Amino acid sequence: MAPDMGKGLSSTNGESFPPNIDFGVPSIARAYDAVLGGKDNFEADRAVARELFQVMPEIGDLAWDNRAILGRGVSYLAGEMGLRQFIDLGSGLPTVENTHQVAQRHNPTAQVVYVDNDPIVLAHGRALLDENEYTSVVTADLRDPSGVLGHPDVQRLIDFTRPVGILLVGMLHHLHDDEDPQGIVQAYLDACPSGSHLLVTHFCRSSPDAAALEETFLEFLKTGRFRTREEIERYFEGLELVEPGVVYLPEWRPDEEPAYPLTVGQRLMVGGIGRKP
Ligand SMILES: C[S@@+](CC[C@H](N)C(=O)[O-])C[C@H]1O[C@@H](n2cnc3c(N)ncnc32)[C@H](O)[C@@H]1O
Repeated sequence: MAPDMGKGLSSTNGESFPPNIDFGVPSIARAYDAVLGGKDNFEADRAVARELFQVMPEIGDLAWDNRAILGRGVSYLAGEMGLRQFIDLGSGLPTVENTHQVAQRHNPTAQVVYVDNDPIVLAHGRALLDENEYTSVVTADLRDPSGVLGHPDVQRLIDFTRPVGILLVGMLHHLHDDEDPQGIVQAYLDACPSGSHLLVTHFCRSSPDAAALEETFLEFLKTGRFRTREEIERYFEGLELVEPGVVYLPEWRPDEEPAYPLTVGQRLMVGGIGRKP
């Protein structure tokens, strides 16, 4: 067994994890947790976070902007649109204001399935969700929509005759073009009825700084591609784009008007919501 693998290892939080996870190799979920200032990460993940901060000192603020639009987006969907069920694809490690907490503030029986391919997410999610019968964490690869949609927990919690919120927050830029992110999004939408909504946030090639950050992402996490705003808008094809459209994260229905000019970091990601007619 490699020195960093196996049962009994724990994070800086002191929790133990499933066997056969190589903690010497950074994971997207744990590196993101490190960027957010969380405790569920290891040295390999923190090394990636340090590199990212070096290239883009505002990366931490950007990550929190991303969490904030997830909160505002779910609040809009559960509160204003009355959605009662969500599939959060590439959900990441639990942190503050997780999808079920926001949705269940509006409707205490709102159903949420978290999907992530990192088993660490399940290990942490279990602790958080043990007593929540309306929520589940599924370890699955979202690139396999029929596997995810057919998963027993998805089938148990999600009623596909009623509108569903499909969340792909900070996720699609981890997929290469040959993995067909557009087709994957479409497959999830095809399974959902009219009135369902798609929430996407995505790294955007809006500035020269984006290229340097993208290079670091690829070097350490080995996956993904930043896309242009036009490419990101294409995920919403066939949907009614909710105002204000696909915009920089702090501009999407903010609680308070953002300070202008936006920083370079704030212009690195865009996001929006579309409604299936
Ligand atoms: C940057 S995190 C975003 C977490 C959360 N959605 C947010 O925005 O705060 C991306 C997450 O996607 C997960 N992920 C990456 N590729 C995946 C795949 N093919 N299937 C399922 N999850 C995946 C990673 O494990 C990670 O937890």
